[in-house]
Amino acid sequence: MHSFRYIQGRLHAESADLGALATRHGTPLYVYSGATIRDHYTRLDGALDRVDHLICYAVKANSNLAILNLIATMGGGFDIVSGGELFRVLQAGGSASKCTFAGVGKTRDEIEYALREGIYCFNAESEAELRYINHIAGELGMKAPVAVRVNPNVDAKTHAKITTGKSENKFGIDFDRISEVYSIIANECPHLEIRGLQMHIGSQLTSVAPFVEAVNKVIPLVQEMKAKYGIRFFSIGGGIGIVYKQSLDSGTPDWWTQEGEEAHPLTVQAYADAVAPLLEPLGLRILLEPGRFMVGNAGTLITKVLYEKKGAAKSFVIVDAGMNDLIRPTLYEGWHQIVPVEKSTSTETHRADIVGPICETGDFLAQDRDITPVSEGDFLAVLSAGAYGFSMASNYNSRPMAAEILVDGKEAHLVRERQTLDDLIRGEHIPADKCETE
Ligand SMILES: Cc1ncc(COP(=O)(O)O)c(C=O)c1O
Repeated sequence: MHSFRYIQGRLHAESADLGALATRHGTPLYVYSGATIRDHYTRLDGALDRVDHLICYAVKANSNLAILNLIATMGGGFDIVSGGELFRVLQAGGSASKCTFAGVGKTRDEIEYALREGIYCFNAESEAELRYINHIAGELGMKAPVAVRVNPNVDAKTHAKITTGKSENKFGIDFDRISEVYSIIANECPHLEIRGLQMHIGSQLTSVAPFVEAVNKVIPLVQEMKAKYGIRFFSIGGGIGIVYKQSLDSGTPDWWTQEGEEAHPLTVQAYADAVAPLLEPLGLRILLEPGRFMVGNAGTLITKVLYEKKGAAKSFVIVDAGMNDLIRPTLYEGWHQIVPVEKSTSTETHRADIVGPICETGDFLAQDRDITPVSEGDFLAVLSAGAYGFSMASNYNSRPMAAEILVDGKEAHLVRERQTLDDLIRGEHIPADKCETE
């Protein structure tokens, strides 16, 4: 579900009027719906209740403290990929004892930090990394809990840039080497404790088949590692895809139950019904690492129309949000539904590119989109921008980053202040003296 709909012609997040929020806080502005995130967490949790499981939200999807706090409060754990993400989780009230630490390039500082905070498990992605963690844990007089990320060489049938489980991807250790690597840990790494096995085949999967294929392929390995080393968990990663096109008319948005072309291609129930029967007999704790599913449809990016321009070949609507605010369209060819915050009464449409102010040809939010007429000053809502939106934002072109709002019913909380010009140069220094030349 999502909680964005028109009420008397004005787009709302739950009961909050998005036009009023944009006027008050300025644009570009990210707005999230707390109810949507809670609903997604509860649905996934409920769908898997037949297996012992822990939802470890993938922090990279959206790492705002308020969102992490909301998930921690619901009992969720976290999948982190940096010391910075661990810091955020701790600041948000989460616990390292419910965190898994993924990523191919963990540094010494990050490993030490996670060990000292009592991380639940390092999901290691190479033999070299395992030996390094072993070395650091030995120096600290600690034992490091580890799992190995297996690369099952399964095609996730998603965009090439978010496929992670093929053998040509940098992630995980080849399926055929897993037994050998666990034996190295057991025999040569006295400061490691084998705790689990992990996989993640990609993001925005829209069918259940690749999950089933990967789970079926990896289960024999899981059984072997359970028998030999007593592993306690199997993490099946994240990747549940979301619908990027949805209905906004009043009433309950119903893509959970819809059928046909506009239906959610992968409902959480279909996912759970397919994987839970395979996982239940393992008698292990199952970890899930959803990111996009939890927050994607829970967020929108509000932007203001600055200018319109008709070129010889195309028309452009120039808005104040750019690829530095939302990079998905240009990086992943991500398609976002873009609608006026005040519903148009016109039925006539024209074709245009909706572009940002950044000096890059790739700075667009939509291309060749049929839109109803807009005027300068209108607010537009870029929907389903809650995942990999703000968390991938940058200061490119020296643009201060957007503010973020978390809506809870009628209440709208400012959960990140808009950056100021001073924020842009914080920490920079002009050398007081001329550079010395040798
Ligand atoms: C290891 C790992 N787990 C989970 C996720 C979350 O994926 P998604 O947002 O598609 O659920 C990612 C995303 O890249 C990942 O790399």
